[in-house]
Amino acid sequence: MQGRGALGVVLLAAAFALALAGAPAARADGRCGTHPWCDTSLSPDARADLLLHVLTRDERIALLGGDDLTGVSGTGHTGTSFGVSRLGLPAVYFTDGPQGVRSGKATLLPSPLALAATFSPSLASAAGTVVGNEARHKGNDVVFAPTVNIMRTPLGGRTFEAYGEDPFLTTRMAVGWIEGAQGQGVIADVKHFAANQQEGSGGIPPLTGLSGSRFLVDVRVDERTLRETELPAFEAAVEEAHVGTVMCAYNRVNGAYACESDKLIHQILERDWGFQGFVLADYGAAHNPVASLRGGLDFEPWPAVAYGSLAVNVALAAGQATMAQVDEHVRRVLRTLFAYGFFDRGAYTDDEQFDRTAHATVARTIETSAITLMQNRGGLLPLDATKLHSLAVIGKPAAANPSRGGSAAVTPTAVTTPLAGIAQRAGAGVQVRYDPGSSLAAAANAARGADAALVFVTDGGGEGSDKACLHLTCDGSQPDHDALIQAVAAANPHTIVVLETGPVLTPWRDRVPAILEAWDPGQEGGAALARVLFGDADPGGRLPVTFPASVGDTLTAGADPQAYPGGLSVAYKEGVLVGYRWYDAKGIAPAFAFGSGLSYTKFHYSRLHVRRVRGGGVLARVGVDVRNTGRRPGSEVVQLYLGLPQPSPSIVQPPRQLRGMHRIELRPRHRIRLSFPIDARSLSYWDVASHSWRRAPGCYQVMVGHSSRDIRVAGAVAVAGAQCRGAVARIP
Ligand code: BGC
Repeated sequence: MQGRGALGVVLLAAAFALALAGAPAARADGRCGTHPWCDTSLSPDARADLLLHVLTRDERIALLGGDDLTGVSGTGHTGTSFGVSRLGLPAVYFTDGPQGVRSGKATLLPSPLALAATFSPSLASAAGTVVGNEARHKGNDVVFAPTVNIMRTPLGGRTFEAYGEDPFLTTRMAVGWIEGAQGQGVIADVKHFAANQQEGSGGIPPLTGLSGSRFLVDVRVDERTLRETELPAFEAAVEEAHVGTVMCAYNRVNGAYACESDKLIHQILERDWGFQGFVLADYGAAHNPVASLRGGLDFEPWPAVAYGSLAVNVALAAGQATMAQVDEHVRRVLRTLFAYGFFDRGAYTDDEQFDRTAHATVARTIETSAITLMQNRGGLLPLDATKLHSLAVIGKPAAANPSRGGSAAVTPTAVTTPLAGIAQRAGAGVQVRYDPGSSLAAAANAARGADAALVFVTDGGGEGSDKACLHLTCDGSQPDHDALIQAVAAANPHTIVVLETGPVLTPWRDRVPAILEAWDPGQEGGAALARVLFGDADPGGRLPVTFPASVGDTLTAGADPQAYPGGLSVAYKEGVLVGYRWYDAKGIAPAFAFGSGLSYTKFHYSRLHVRRVRGGGVLARVGVDVRNTGRRPGSEVVQLYLGLPQPSPSIVQPPRQLRGMHRIELRPRHRIRLSFPIDARSLSYWDVASHSWRRAPGCYQVMVGHSSRDIRVAGAVAVAGAQCRGAVARIP
């Protein structure tokens, strides 16, 4: 469902990337000058070395930390490194963030979780392109995004800010986003490395207690779980998308603070993945200059405390750190700036010259493709404006367009609220009654007698604090949003619930015919929602997270505080069974499954075929036919899951894992043949004995379907000489 705007931005990004790639003049039209390190025929490493050697000791130490004192409290950049004017090393400017640029007015895109619901890497690229473009036109060189931490618990406050519970989906979205952003000539910053999967109860300890606070918690996670669930998106960001910087997280991982972790930074990021960019600290995540210099932190943007000149000089004078360590970190920063063209172009200025209309179109296209129709009993949707007389629109979110705040806060350039979008699309002939939902009786009154009642609700949670419960309202505020839905549903049998939430409990789902998940819809949410409600567009979204049927079903439930929220440490006892893997392995039926979402039409799957491929990185191809058997054009996300065999009885394998996806548009009665590549990694598990990816001999289940719980065609593949009954293919 790509509009022309989204495509246009993607094409623009591609053209820009090509222009960058094809500009190897010996001296570019940049701001570098005529210094020896300005020779563009030299490698980034050689140029960094030349510059490093003329920097004084104090200049090198100063380059370890940011210089801007205002940091996040300012209205402009989120951080600044002043550079060294004596040598023409320009200032570097940093900004947040993952849902839009956090300085001045910017396009408020749908949340990254909404973006994930599109299952579309090209829309992720369009989102990255918008943010990269605006970051640049607001004078920034580096943008602190994307957030790629896997959702471990639906209580996680930053669930909206990342791509959900599945490593494959998160990986594809992250790569698309980074390519889009970096194609605009800014450097992306994948975050938060690693295992920053909970916020705690809020505030800064010890003022608010220690339980599971992101600032302190030590995540106890085994090697396989880390490699298979939390790390793949970071790995692909480095190896595939060539991200320039990585933000290390607040929390500790297996004992060491993430920004001091030799294991995470030196061994995994730099040695195993070959990362050549630089690691910067989350704000306040660097604690100790000695451990950070040794552990691998290259730059502390704000506040420069651990890497402040005083602290670093004290560590050097005490013989606890060396100038060689300082130099190595500064060299990595400089090398990255050379490699990403920072010296060889003009400074970006805060000219605000970005295309607001085109970017709003991208926001609308993404949201249209993200809105997920979870339930539609009796075909209540789509609404037919020609047959309607009245609509009730209930709930404050219908008349607002909130951003969740925190570092993902964005001040939108313009807003189309749901109320405005619906009223405009419904037309003058339809009476639209609005009630803010402040009283249950008034809401029920507004709903009664209308042809349909739309009730809008949000949930809590945000950066810095996990949700206190999985219900819509946890803080005791009245009226409770669950009660509001029940009151409206009791007054009007044609109630449509519009969720602007992450995964929540839906105890009223049997009492309402229709449920739409609109996520944090972005500034064009109202326009997108109107298109979907009235059937101008098919609901394009699929759930990137499981909606549990009860709180006791989640992997962090139960009376085990060690598993969540933890105290000073938290134990990932579920191992690799994160997200739907948990529900599948434990035989728990979710309320709404990962990957699910309805269309206004129907699709039929047939002719599963697996073909072995020789040579290249692809081992096999899975083919399937999908046909639109309904009467309307529609969109489908065709999902490939693999079930890997257990290499030994003690090695748990989830029943199925997403390994491929195709988002398609089909006209009625049209058919398409799709092909999914299967590479070695798709068939591999992390073997802790050899510390490497391994392919176990055995029978692999190949499943293609509409969701993780709605597999339409399946077969077995025999790998490495295994005998499988009815195998459709063999792979060595
Ligand atoms: C957040 C980061 C953000 C930084 C700067 C931190 O609190 O965790 O995601 O980039 O602030 O705003």
